Amino acid sequence: MTKIIQISDTHIVPEGALAYGQVDTAAALAETVATINRLLPQIGPVDLVIVTGDLTEHGTPEEYDRFKMLMADLDLPYRVLPGNHDRREPMRESFADAQWMPRTAPLDWQIDFEDFAVVGLDSLTESAAHGTLEPATLSFLTDALSGLGDKPAIVGFHHPPFAVGIRAMDAQNLHDADSMGTALSLHSGQVRLVCGHLHRSIAGLFSGSLCQVCPGTSHAVTLDQRANAGNSLTKEPGGMLLHEWRDDGFLTHLIPVGAFPGPYPFLGVS
Ligand SMILES: [Fe+2]
Ligand SMILES: [Fe+2]
Repeated sequence: MTKIIQISDTHIVPEGALAYGQVDTAAALAETVATINRLLPQIGPVDLVIVTGDLTEHGTPEEYDRFKMLMADLDLPYRVLPGNHDRREPMRESFADAQWMPRTAPLDWQIDFEDFAVVGLDSLTESAAHGTLEPATLSFLTDALSGLGDKPAIVGFHHPPFAVGIRAMDAQNLHDADSMGTALSLHSGQVRLVCGHLHRSIAGLFSGSLCQVCPGTSHAVTLDQRANAGNSLTKEPGGMLLHEWRDDGFLTHLIPVGAFPGPYPFLGVS
């Protein structure tokens, strides 16, 4: 049974700094890695971890080095995608040793497992917060899906393709998402869309497929749907997602970051 874990929006900053002066994102990523490693005997085997963007806060080589140092303790292979806080060329350079990292063009990749394939798309718009899929990425998606036939696919990227009522974030979601919808509509197999950027667990339909937004590992975008709401963070618990293929369909589990008391047997319950 194929399983992958998705983490997102780790927002690593230089050592000694807090993201936005508030959040120790490195400690949260270390706790996320520890959570995954601790859970593996209960949920494994897991085939891959994907990181759906905003690995770093500023996209500097120093921040990518710190991200990789923290991820080095992970007992699973992982692949990354860029978010609006990342920078394409420093990120490409930082992962130059990875065989899956494209040497040129957008940071798109594909990996095939027994039950489904994972297609990673680069939605980064350099010097802008919103997302776009360049023509090369749309072609990559079309070619990847056509090559899969009716095999199911998880398609991952950073920017959500729909609005969620948080105005400041909706303005910077995936623009021209209809182009992606057109490419997805040509696929005969099941599709699960997974993204990040909102630092919240949100699910909705897009182009006939379920799109699941992943929580951040360290902090949330504030859930405030009022018209005059500012753009802010709230220190809600971090989380991640486990996507698996079970009984001929995708299933997604939300897993909080951290260690919690238990398990306790349900004594007396039959
Ligand atoms: Fe983010
Ligand atoms: Fe983002």
